[in-house]
This record gives sequence, C-alpha cells and structure tokens, in this order.
Amino acid sequence: MAGAPAISISGLSVELGGRRILDNLSLEVARGEMIGLVGASGGGKTVLLRTMLGLLPKTSGQVEILGLPLENASPSEVRAIGRRCGAMFQQGALFSSLSVRENVEFPMREYLDGSDRLFRSVALAKLRMVGLTETDAEKMPAQLSGGMTKRAALARALALDPEIVFLDEPTSGLDPIAAGDFDALIRSLHEMLGLTLFMITHDLETLNAVCDRIAALHEGHIIADGPMSTLLQSDHPWLKAYFRGERGRAIQWAR
Ligand SMILES: Nc1ncnc2c1ncn2[C@@H]1O[C@H](COP(=O)(O)OP(=O)(O)OP(=O)(O)O)[C@@H](O)[C@H]1O
Ligand SMILES: [Mg+2]
Repeated sequence: MAGAPAISISGLSVELGGRRILDNLSLEVARGEMIGLVGASGGGKTVLLRTMLGLLPKTSGQVEILGLPLENASPSEVRAIGRRCGAMFQQGALFSSLSVRENVEFPMREYLDGSDRLFRSVALAKLRMVGLTETDAEKMPAQLSGGMTKRAALARALALDPEIVFLDEPTSGLDPIAAGDFDALIRSLHEMLGLTLFMITHDLETLNAVCDRIAALHEGHIIADGPMSTLLQSDHPWLKAYFRGERGRAIQWAR
C-alpha cells in the first residue's frame, strides 16, 4: 500500500524459551523517518528486529512492513518484502568464506536475475558509496578492520536498493572518529536515498547526530518515544539513569 507507514507494530508479544521478551509492544514508523531504538542490554532489541523481519515467531500482535501484515503473507509476499528491506545484523555481519564483493553480490544473486558482470559492477558501486575501494572489494572479511566490516555490511544491506534499512549496533566497537564518520555516512545516505532507517544503538552520540526520533524499550514495550529532548526530560527512572548517567552525561558536556 502506497500510503502505509514503513513499519506498524501493535500489541506485539514474543516469548522465547518460556520467557516473555516483548510484551504488548506498539510502535509506528513513517516512511523516510530515522528512528533510533535504545534499551538495556538483553532487553529484546535484536529480538524485535528479528521478529519484524519474520525471522522469529511472535506469540501475539500485529507487524506490518510497508503495509503488508506479516501474519497473512504468503511466502512469495514475505520474499517480496524481504527484497524491499536491508538489514545489518549485530552478529555475523558478513559471510566469512566470501570476499567483500561476493558478500554484497549475495542478496542480488538471491533475488535478481542478472549477469556476473552486472552484479559485480553494482556491488562495486555500492562499496564505493560506503567509502570502500576496488582493492577492498577483493579482500576477505578476516582482512578488514572493524570499521571496514561495518561499511561492507552496510553496502550489503543496500544491495537491493531497499526502502527500509535496519541497523543493529552499527557503530559498536568503532573509535569515536570512525563512529562519527559512520554516522555522517548514514546521514548522507538517508538524505540521498530517502530511506526509512531503523537503528538500534547504545551510542548516544549516534542517536543525537543521526536520529529524528528515539524509542526506548523497557520491560518488553516502548516506554518513551520522541526527539532526544523529550527523552532527556522524562522522569522515568530507567531513562534518567540511561541518559543522565556517567556515560550519558558526556553528550551534554559536549554541548
Ligand atoms: N532465539 C532465542 N531463543 C531464546 N532466547 C533468545 C533468543 N534470542 C534472544 N533470546 C533472549 O532474549 C533476550 C533479549 O535478547 P536480545 O538479543 O534481543 O537483547 P538486546 O536488547 O538486543 O541486547 P544487546 O543490547 O546486548 O544486543 C535475551 O535474554 C536473550 O537471551
Ligand atoms: Mg542486540
């Protein structure tokens, strides 16, 4: 549906191993938004991402991606939605047995018909877009630095010109300069491509620099949602501790 939100989640609950991880969670993301999701480690952020992508089963509730309810979707519809979404996962960002270029070609080979030459030139264009060279393209993942791995994983998430890109901790493990460069890259891609961006991050600088809106996940659902200023003013004890604690305060010192 053309006018539908990019993501619409209502009353979502997910139980894993007998534990309720997500509990009656609702969240809507408009097309073109850049939303950041924060929450305690182990709080269910990655589970939410995997559930939205249809990789984990839900116990109850609705998830609609680009107007299509995952629940009633046929396998071919799920596949069609998968083609319109790109994801950069927290773990296992790249296939270790494939070169960087082959990693970026992988989703194209899965979804599109095309010649090796075409896939190769599109993959190289995506890699250039994220600041990697033709020499980097022929490297194996083990030969990359952390920052290069993140860029390569982003290029792979962009391989199919997605409408929504999901990023799980894109700047974790990078030094502040590399993380800042990555933030700038994400921002410029967003401006250039008009993507909807859903980003999970603990990096307060990234949240501040990149996201229009922040949603906080606590005890299985969204307890606050709005611009950084709204979250900073919240009286919720967990939010106060998260944003105004020792580490969180750094962001305000910088102002
Ligand atoms: N496939 C699974 N089966 C059973 N339990 C799982 C599964 N995946 C995740 N969990 C559990 O769900 C909880 C939430 O995990 P999740 O990975 O979503 O946390 P997170 O918010 O992404 O944390 P972090 O910030 O550390 O990445 C954890 O207790 C985890 O052990
Ligand atoms: Mg996680």
